[in-house]
Amino acid sequence: MSDPYYITTAISYPNGRPHIGHAYEAIAADAIARFQRQAGRDVRFQTGTDEHGLKMVQTARDRGVEVRALADEMSSYFQAMCDDLAISYDRFIRTTDADHHRASQAIWQAMADAGDLYLDRYEGWYSVRDEAFYDEKELTEGEGGAKLSPQGTPVTWTAEETWFFRLSKYQQPLLDLYAAEPDFIRPDARRNEILRFVEGGLSDLSVSRTSFDWGVPVPGSPGHVMYVWVDALTNYLTGAGYPNGTTPHWPADLHLIGKDIVRFHAVYWPAFLMSAGIALPKTVFGHGFLLHRGEKMSKSLGNVVDPGDLARAFGVDGLRYFLLREVSFGHDGSYSAEAIVTRVNAELANAFGNLAQRTLSFIAKNLEGALPDAGRRDDADAVLIEEVVVACAGLKAAFGDLMLSQGIEAWLRGVYACNQYIDAQAPWALRKADPERMHAVLGTLVRSIRMLAIAILPVVPEGAGRILDLLGAEARDHAAVDDDGWYARQVAAGFKLGTPAPAFPRLEMPAEEAA
Ligand code: MSP
Repeated sequence: MSDPYYITTAISYPNGRPHIGHAYEAIAADAIARFQRQAGRDVRFQTGTDEHGLKMVQTARDRGVEVRALADEMSSYFQAMCDDLAISYDRFIRTTDADHHRASQAIWQAMADAGDLYLDRYEGWYSVRDEAFYDEKELTEGEGGAKLSPQGTPVTWTAEETWFFRLSKYQQPLLDLYAAEPDFIRPDARRNEILRFVEGGLSDLSVSRTSFDWGVPVPGSPGHVMYVWVDALTNYLTGAGYPNGTTPHWPADLHLIGKDIVRFHAVYWPAFLMSAGIALPKTVFGHGFLLHRGEKMSKSLGNVVDPGDLARAFGVDGLRYFLLREVSFGHDGSYSAEAIVTRVNAELANAFGNLAQRTLSFIAKNLEGALPDAGRRDDADAVLIEEVVVACAGLKAAFGDLMLSQGIEAWLRGVYACNQYIDAQAPWALRKADPERMHAVLGTLVRSIRMLAIAILPVVPEGAGRILDLLGAEARDHAAVDDDGWYARQVAAGFKLGTPAPAFPRLEMPAEEAA
């Protein structure tokens, strides 16, 4: 297949269990991957865990376990989360994988060959939580005068002999890149942040550590392991076959990451790649943070929720729909049980699920499942089909541009149009009075429901998939535009619907949250 599309999420630190922020990123990336597959692209989708670095070493020490054992255990929870949430990844990479070590050492060697690495003494501030070095001028003061990183995490003074990467050399090439490729960093707020940071001047970057050995060994430099971000970023290349050349999936189309790690992806990563002579990814998108009732999630507030529990409480589709619909993609967003229940019930269960259930079960009961024939068509039918076609095209255009919530809103306009149509046409009342007209109305609804189900598949693959399964194997195979021909062929073939079960059940407020 041609037309490759390569999408990646950040790889998570497996120093604890996954939380809803990780789930949010995986779900958004999955919806985009499914959408691009549907559009005929040859999609490769990678996610995984970032297992090296001091944070992992310290967490393992605090828990009294081997760091390898910590990584194995926690990484398995991240993979299980992806499987629980219907994340359609092609590879779940672990940075402890052997091919990843080879890729990291190869990019290191390429940067060394370019003359961009040199040995010197590093003295400066380091945040273990962020695995990041900061300039003095970036720090703020916390309680009791403690120094804090721009992310509000504690920093410690470190001094050791390390390898440096000549990041300063890439200041102008990076500024040229941002000017030439306005979509390299999205959304604009992130782009502006990075422009300001790079315009402020870049210092060379310390890229190896000698005080611990949990990392990828620096080639030819005993005692040094790579700075965790060098190997972490390289995961994207490992997944594209590097260093044995690169597959047609490189360069990546989209690195989807959170807003806190844009600097690593939009400054360090393209500089490493330029140095190594490797093509640059097309877009780095920094999504917003997910908050719980407007507050940051933290262990001390006790509001860190297991995404698996949320999926069990609200359904995989319910959770996926809520997160992508509620949060304007690129901005921060907030969730709560009430907000999930309210939105899922109003939009997914009532507006769409009920529409499909009423229509299909009416056909199953009254027409013995046979799809209604063309019947006596009316202008209202063509108007509805047109509204639904426009709604689905709206979703398609918006998703193509990563505007996920706007895409779902466009889709909902099609759903609401169907609900108005059903109320106005009242097919149930036509059963005895005007069966010919009833056939046309039900047929129009089936065609509309099919288009809407195809369009929303990337968001709610299970429920929308169940609706499409009822309509026969061929229903999924067509592009998301109305195909009257498909419908006519199904009718002529005497296709019969199975007995529908609600695809999107209504949710109840979970007892403990309701209290
Ligand atoms: N290991 C690095 C990424 C390396 S990528 C080469 C890392 N890991 S992380 O586990 O801290 O975060 C993984 C992803 O989850 C990041 O994109 C991060 O922004 C995202 N999120 C973490 N908390 C989040 C929320 N509360 N909300 C949304 N996304 C959040 O950073």
